[in-house]
Amino acid sequence: MAKVLATGGMGYIGSHTVVELIKKGYEVEILDNLYNSKETVLDKIESLTGVRPKFHYVDMLDAEKVDEVFKNGNFTNVIHFAGLKAVGESVEKPLEYYKTNIDGTLNILNSMKKYGVKNIIFSSSATVYGDPHQDTCDESLPTGRELTNPYGKTKFMIEEILKDVCVADKDFSVTLLRYFNPVGNHESGLLGEDPNGIPNNLMPIIMRVAKGDIEELSVFGDDYKTRDGSCIRDYIHVVDLANGHILAMEHEKPGVSIYNLGTGTGTTVFEMINAFEKASGEKLPYKVVGRRAGDLPILTANAEKAERELGWKAEKTVEDAMRDTIKFLRG
Ligand code: UD1
Repeated sequence: MAKVLATGGMGYIGSHTVVELIKKGYEVEILDNLYNSKETVLDKIESLTGVRPKFHYVDMLDAEKVDEVFKNGNFTNVIHFAGLKAVGESVEKPLEYYKTNIDGTLNILNSMKKYGVKNIIFSSSATVYGDPHQDTCDESLPTGRELTNPYGKTKFMIEEILKDVCVADKDFSVTLLRYFNPVGNHESGLLGEDPNGIPNNLMPIIMRVAKGDIEELSVFGDDYKTRDGSCIRDYIHVVDLANGHILAMEHEKPGVSIYNLGTGTGTTVFEMINAFEKASGEKLPYKVVGRRAGDLPILTANAEKAERELGWKAEKTVEDAMRDTIKFLRG
């Protein structure tokens, strides 16, 4: 049976994946510096699964401590979620982003090499497609072109580093999971996305508006060539996403495997607002403002490869995500 180290396992996607892994009977340990999370997440994982995973309060930039974790861990697999992920902040603090995301990953990889851990799944992003000049992306599209921010570039660079490691070690297995737009939370409402600081993705902002912490949602543009003028994205429920990691892990093989994790269906910003209002029974205050620099009008996944090869398919809807989010919001 696999023994998994989840870096960033206390974060939004990491914690949901840890829950699903434990539910499937896998042994999991977490390495996290709580930069964008809280220690109480561990209690929630325990109350949802009956298991309290071993938690290493370690910064992945601390190579010695990372090594200690591996030395005693006997891991067979790593799922690497840890990293900085705020797009706007990455433009302002590029060195911090390159250092954390790249050096952190190198530390993990060095320890994996030292202790013979041969399987890694990496949290990548649809952002690696840059501007694909088409509305739907499949995994064969070129990556790394027209990337507009350091965050996205680190995702691309780490993908390339991992591919090189596979060239050098024929037994090494890399799975790159390119997430589209993760939303929602565990249906219990216990676990969810609660970023420290000011959020910049749509769902956490909607939550803050609903809580009254932010006065209104700014809709970034209503003059795109889409069905209602607002941008279209592929919102994927985080529990579906979590299950994608497990299937990916169960299909690991030497070499590089790449999968989009998305629904294949697009939703506009106004449709997201409507879905929130329907699920909550409350109005969501918003105003339309100018376009946000770097936004693509439409970006959705072609996720057929994951279905074909992993037997994975998103099952939950945006409505499910809204219902679960509101449950989390109301505590
Ligand atoms: C963004 C990043 C992407 C990153 C992803 C996950 C940009 C240009 N892209 O994707 O690199 O991988 O987050 O972290 O930042 N919106 C509003 N008002 C808001 C916030 C968002 O109207 O206050 C709209 C956006 O215009 C977009 C949609 O909501 O159409 C989703 O935005 P967001 O959650 O930031 O995700 P992406 O832009 O798809």
